[in-house]
Amino acid sequence: MPNATVLVVDDEALIRWSLTERLKSDGYNVLEADTGKAALERLADGVDLVLLDYRLPDTDGVTILRTIKELDQDILVILLTAYASVDTAVEAMKLGAYHFANKPFNLDEVSALVERALETTRLRREVRQFRTSAARPYSLQHIVGASPAVTELRHLVARVAVSPSSTVLLTGESGTGKDLVAKIIHYTSDRAARPFMNITCSALPEQLLESELFGHERGAFTDARLQKKGLLETADGGTVFLDEIGEMTPGLQAKLLRFLEEKSFKRVGGSTDIRVDARVIAATNRNLEEEVARSQFRSDLYYRLNVLPIAMPSLRAHPEDIPLLVEYFIDGFNTEFRKRVLGATPAAYRALQQYGWPGNVRELRNLIERSMLLSDHDRLDAKDFPVMAGAQTVSDEIALPANGIDLETLERSLVVQALRRCGGNQTRAGALLGLNRDQIRYRIEKFALTPAQ
Ligand SMILES: Nc1ncnc2c1ncn2[C@@H]1O[C@H](COP(=O)(O)OP(=O)(O)OP(=O)(O)O)[C@@H](O)[C@H]1O
Ligand SMILES: [Mg+2]
Repeated sequence: MPNATVLVVDDEALIRWSLTERLKSDGYNVLEADTGKAALERLADGVDLVLLDYRLPDTDGVTILRTIKELDQDILVILLTAYASVDTAVEAMKLGAYHFANKPFNLDEVSALVERALETTRLRREVRQFRTSAARPYSLQHIVGASPAVTELRHLVARVAVSPSSTVLLTGESGTGKDLVAKIIHYTSDRAARPFMNITCSALPEQLLESELFGHERGAFTDARLQKKGLLETADGGTVFLDEIGEMTPGLQAKLLRFLEEKSFKRVGGSTDIRVDARVIAATNRNLEEEVARSQFRSDLYYRLNVLPIAMPSLRAHPEDIPLLVEYFIDGFNTEFRKRVLGATPAAYRALQQYGWPGNVRELRNLIERSMLLSDHDRLDAKDFPVMAGAQTVSDEIALPANGIDLETLERSLVVQALRRCGGNQTRAGALLGLNRDQIRYRIEKFALTPAQ
């Protein structure tokens, strides 16, 4: 790890000097401290690894080790000691020391140990990143749907991903896939190997959100014991996803705008400009244009964010994708729950297409998950969807009255009812009856129905 910072803690100047010289020539930034107190103070400058003498004038190495690990688990500590007892070694390891080096030590050995320790962290970080991306692979085919609306969405996402620095604004109701699309954009762009950082702007009070985003210097406010990098800095080379951007306070809106314009910012309490190359994807389920008109959202920030707008369709706008989505979720939950559900019954599909889906695809997904957990059928049935109990469903078989029935009249009546319920929308009326557009149009003509009916 070039650029890593190593802190050398020893009260003997000669030892400090020899270690420092060697580590500097190995290419690290090196800080020094001669007491435990000084060591803890230096941590604030951002340290990756500490070479820690066990015997210190003001305290012992194990106490410092414990404090370091309390402050930041990720800082590596190698304990140097001339007096290693097995007990100390065991205790130090338990507390999270990376290694022990016995004094007098050989500089080559210490140098190799430091290199290996830092390499381990690098690998650990890489594995962590790889695991998250391997466990959740995000590619275009994870946007499921064959309707024109979803096909267009997939094309748009693909185009946005290859323009890897422009700001993206995702708008749409809750549950329409904004999170999903943000991740797909990141993981199919050139930035995929770099971090994807995600923050919900409504989840934190203004000050906290500010320091999460921009980081802070030590002492910037009461709890700022150490310097901390913000999400923008951590995401360098990658993507920052700002969810619920509509909730951001005016003060932060101004700071974000400055970052978008200048690509640089200052940490809270800091004076140096930090340049960062992070793509910003923002999302909201509010109507930002209205917020701008009501002066709730800065218009300049809105235009800056809206470089590449993506409007997510509500599920009501593409009910024809419901069967595909249902199959996709059934497949996923079959694997997850070790089940073998084959699909859903025609009555179930009709019920699903009839429903209004205020919670969009998320609600559909949750519904399939719940019904798969609760039912043992090969095929999910309308009866398995308790939330839709309000929605009337008809069983596959309608009992034929004893004196028979006029099928044409019944058919006409059902078509008329479906059209009425859907405000004359032929596609949706057709979906209620399990008919495609051509089939419902044919019947509308056959029965000479006018749209008003
Ligand atoms: N077209 C789609 N194909 C497959 N899965 C989808 C699709 N759209 C949404 N989903 C799934 O639906 C769920 C909800 O989506 P997501 O969390 O991205 O919604 P959101 O728009 O971010 O909602 P909110 O505004 O509430 O945060 C997720 O499990 C997501 O994977
Ligand atoms: Mg979301």
